[in-house]
Amino acid sequence: MAGGSHPFVLFILGLLLVHCAARGNDGGASPTLHRHLTEQEKSNKVKREGLPSNYSTPDYYPTPHGGWVSSWTEAYAKAQLVVSNMTLAEKVNITSGTGYFMGPCVGQTGSALRFGIPRLCLQDSPLGIRDTENNTAFPAGVTTGATWDKELIYARGVAIGEEARGKGVNVQMGPVVGPIGRKPKSGRIWEGFGADPSLQGLAAVQTIQGMQSVGVIATLKHFILNEQEMYRMTDPVQVGYSSDIDDRTMHEIYLWPFAEGVRAGVGSVMAAYNHVNGSLCTQNSEILNGILKDELGFQGFVMSDWYAQDSGVPSALAGLDMAMPGDGAVPLIGVSWWNYELSTAVLNGTVPLERLNDMVTRVVAAWYQMGQDDDYPLPNFSSNTEDAVGPLYPGALFSPTGVVNQFVNVQGNHSIVARAVARDAITLLKNVNETLPLSSSANLSVFGTDAGPNSKGLNSCTDMGCDNGILTMGWGSGTSRLPYVITPEEAIQNVSANTQFYITDTFPSVTPNADEIAIVFINSDSGENYITVDGNPGDRLEAKLAAWHSGDELVVNAAAAFSTVIVVVHTVGPIIMEDWIDLPSVKGVLVAHLPGQEAGNSLVDVLFGDYSPSGHLPYTIPHNESEYPASVDLIDQVLGQIQDQYLERLYIDYRHFLQANITPRFPFGYGLSYTTFNFSDATIISGTTLTQYPPARASKGPTPTYATTIPPASEVAWPTDISSIWRYLYPYLDDPEAATSTAPYPYPTGYSTTPHAAPRAGGSQGGNPALWDTVFTISVKVTNTGTRPGRAVAQLYVELPADALGVDLPPRQLRQFEKTSILSPGDSETLTLPLTRKDLSVWDVVMQDWLAPVDGEGVKFWIGQSVATEDLQIVCTVGQGCESTS
Ligand SMILES: *[C@@H]1O[C@H](CO)[C@@H](O)[C@H](O)[C@H]1NC(C)=O
Ligand SMILES: *[C@@H]1O[C@H](CO)[C@@H](O)[C@H](O)[C@H]1NC(C)=O
Ligand SMILES: *[C@@H]1O[C@H](CO)[C@@H](O)[C@H](O)[C@H]1NC(C)=O
Ligand SMILES: *[C@@H]1O[C@H](CO)[C@@H](O)[C@H](O)[C@H]1NC(C)=O
Ligand SMILES: *[C@@H]1O[C@H](CO)[C@@H](O)[C@H](O)[C@H]1NC(C)=O
Ligand SMILES: *[C@@H]1O[C@H](CO)[C@@H](O)[C@H](O)[C@H]1NC(C)=O
Ligand SMILES: *[C@@H]1O[C@H](CO)[C@@H](O)[C@H](O)[C@H]1NC(C)=O
Ligand SMILES: *[C@@H]1O[C@H](CO)[C@@H](O)[C@H](O)[C@H]1NC(C)=O
Ligand SMILES: *[C@@H]1O[C@H](CO)[C@@H](O)[C@H](O)[C@H]1NC(C)=O
Repeated sequence: MAGGSHPFVLFILGLLLVHCAARGNDGGASPTLHRHLTEQEKSNKVKREGLPSNYSTPDYYPTPHGGWVSSWTEAYAKAQLVVSNMTLAEKVNITSGTGYFMGPCVGQTGSALRFGIPRLCLQDSPLGIRDTENNTAFPAGVTTGATWDKELIYARGVAIGEEARGKGVNVQMGPVVGPIGRKPKSGRIWEGFGADPSLQGLAAVQTIQGMQSVGVIATLKHFILNEQEMYRMTDPVQVGYSSDIDDRTMHEIYLWPFAEGVRAGVGSVMAAYNHVNGSLCTQNSEILNGILKDELGFQGFVMSDWYAQDSGVPSALAGLDMAMPGDGAVPLIGVSWWNYELSTAVLNGTVPLERLNDMVTRVVAAWYQMGQDDDYPLPNFSSNTEDAVGPLYPGALFSPTGVVNQFVNVQGNHSIVARAVARDAITLLKNVNETLPLSSSANLSVFGTDAGPNSKGLNSCTDMGCDNGILTMGWGSGTSRLPYVITPEEAIQNVSANTQFYITDTFPSVTPNADEIAIVFINSDSGENYITVDGNPGDRLEAKLAAWHSGDELVVNAAAAFSTVIVVVHTVGPIIMEDWIDLPSVKGVLVAHLPGQEAGNSLVDVLFGDYSPSGHLPYTIPHNESEYPASVDLIDQVLGQIQDQYLERLYIDYRHFLQANITPRFPFGYGLSYTTFNFSDATIISGTTLTQYPPARASKGPTPTYATTIPPASEVAWPTDISSIWRYLYPYLDDPEAATSTAPYPYPTGYSTTPHAAPRAGGSQGGNPALWDTVFTISVKVTNTGTRPGRAVAQLYVELPADALGVDLPPRQLRQFEKTSILSPGDSETLTLPLTRKDLSVWDVVMQDWLAPVDGEGVKFWIGQSVATEDLQIVCTVGQGCESTS
């Protein structure tokens, strides 16, 4: 999402002027009349416009009801009791945001206080609580992915959940599994866990379970194919891009981590800004009704990304359940696609009451599912101001004031997990002659502003929209304020008495002693589209994959002056290192990703050898950008709707490098240690017997039913005792009786009220439960064969028989991983890596089901410390057992 800042308000106000100018002729028309016209246009015109003819936009109606999965039965039963007693106004309240800046959080719904349901507070971000204080700024998603440590990922999820709960956040908006990192220059790839569906999926599961274990509703986002920042939004001045994709790629790459997260029981999913196959995500019935709610059996609710909604009726029919932040196309003018409009649409019979009931039931059930009916705190912070007292509804201009910030300290001991994640993510790429770790008595010179503080002050750039000092996270809504940051400068100073600091990006004139070691800090930043930093509109459009602030030059100059140079890289994603990586004096390279507040401490833990680095790259580092497929470049096109075709299909990141037979600079999964590991004694144990397709799914359980008579219009009349707030969004109508109508409505093409047959690939949350049957379990003994303690990651890649399955396939795909505890030299640990039916299947586009090689014939498993052949130590062949490859 976007916003919360003064620059953004100005932007919105600017947009408002543009909007009014563009709609000058409509100026006198009532918003409602205007909306009627666009609704009709929307269902017939906006959709599919300009879509290349070989993509299709299936229609999928009606929305499948929630409540048929047994793990949600109790919550739905409670929800049903409540919803059956709700008035139309209460129901509409639950589905609709009350407007931007109309409460303490970045979004909030209306309430139904008769049932104890408060205005639900929705707050960013995936790495901590945004726009507040006395919080923790955790390492970003990409850093978390680089740990390859499920327990740590879970612990971070718990900690984020605790902070959300402590601040009174009902719905905390993370984790991110899309963008997945298809485009290396895309602005928000650091919010998710890395450029692979299984890595994203397994990390999302841990994060969701951790967050929801303390009662917070997690939000899996952005659904789906939101793989570029520029031109993402559809608003009065542009039509957002369309991600045009074939069905198999959708299932095997982009939908995969969402399926895992839904299976983990995530309470909400956010619909993305972009279009898919020519239809906007927030009103795309195929992806919301069909794929998410039927095939994946999602039981929670779908919210819109902020201002991603572009219609009232079509979005409701397509499966959207909650409008966020509630405003229409233009914020802060008191109009909405839902709220009072949804009341009208139900009274006039256009949105079936059944659809509204399902929306509300999904939200209320998620609230019960997480136990939020039991003593859940109300918001005690404000994302609008850092003052204790302020307007309760800043968007209203004339607002009552009150205590908005209680500065509740929610940090607990979370700095420990924040530091552990940042430390265990640090990825060692080069270490000639064991230059690292450094001795604390070594003579050091530190270069680069990335080692120091933000020269303008800790949180001086709104939503981290600048690259100044240590890069702890990217920019945009996926951030939180830093309560403090331990800079590398500070942390190194604490350990070493012999360090000179040159916190500058221009190499100073120095004459080092022969034994002096240079540590050069460089970074590469990116973020969300509403902020442009140094010509980068979210995406790394200007900077490309090079280090910012002439970082490459800084390294090259240091390498000319010093015989030993250590490079530390803080980066959002892949970065090109060719200018310096092979220079003889560049002896060590550490990628520290985006470490959050514990940046310096975590780095020093590794730099001076208290811990061995144990992170592994969650993406590939190429030699240069031209090694990527052309179709994953950014598309910068001002006129007309961008049709972003996923022509590379499955072949993103390492799948592409393997298929194109390109050896990258550093392969996906790569990461050295101060010690060495040997993998041995692998065994493969069979579980469930693999059949071509999974056994038939069970039929759906019952879902709540309600009376279908349209309620009396009086239920949405303005209450007499309310003093309404200007521009605040309500469910009420001035003249409710006038809304009732029996006029026909031009429903979208393909609209139907007859439920679809249950999709065969479905059956529970995530899909047919048999897809998660364990088919093989591989165990491998990992021994520390070096001289220092350290942790190893066993990565399990699957090679499926393309011929037998009748499709092209990447030679290897990551499907499972595990990390050892800290092993002392000589010690070993046995890791167990289960593989599911789905892990061994491809999406059969004709059968619309997951197809596996019968008995696992021809399936090979590769186990090692990266995807590259030379780092794979064991190969297991089904039926033949396992052997070492080296
Ligand atoms: C997009 O179009 C392709 C090609 O027709 C089709 O295979 C796929 O199912 C469509 N996906 C969606 C979500 O509309
Ligand atoms: C809903 O109403 C019914 C009777 O109409 C009542 O028995 C029930 O307790 C009510 N439930 C709630 C949660 O208010
Ligand atoms: C709807 O929500 C608003 C708060 O946004 C609240 O003031 C109002 O009372 C609610 N309406 C009903 C009928 O509960
Ligand atoms: C909470 O944050 C406020 C504002 O930044 C700060 O003044 C205060 O010291 C913090 N309190 C604690 C306990 O950290
Ligand atoms: C659509 O056509 C283009 C060539 O014009 C082709 O490269 C692409 O693979 C096709 N996509 C689908 C889903 O068939
Ligand atoms: C019913 O109300 C909605 C919301 O105002 C409107 O979009 C729709 O066109 C109306 N239906 C009819 C048949 O007028
Ligand atoms: C704020 O936080 C405190 C401590 O977590 C909690 O007890 C309280 O209910 C929260 N909400 C309000 C409105 O104080
Ligand atoms: C943090 O505190 C909680 C209890 O408050 C405790 O259970 C947990 O073990 C602590 N975590 C660490 C890493 O010390
Ligand atoms: C590594 O150290 C050995 C022994 O000190 C030395 O001969 C060799 O040149 C060094 N290698 C590099 C690449 O610096």
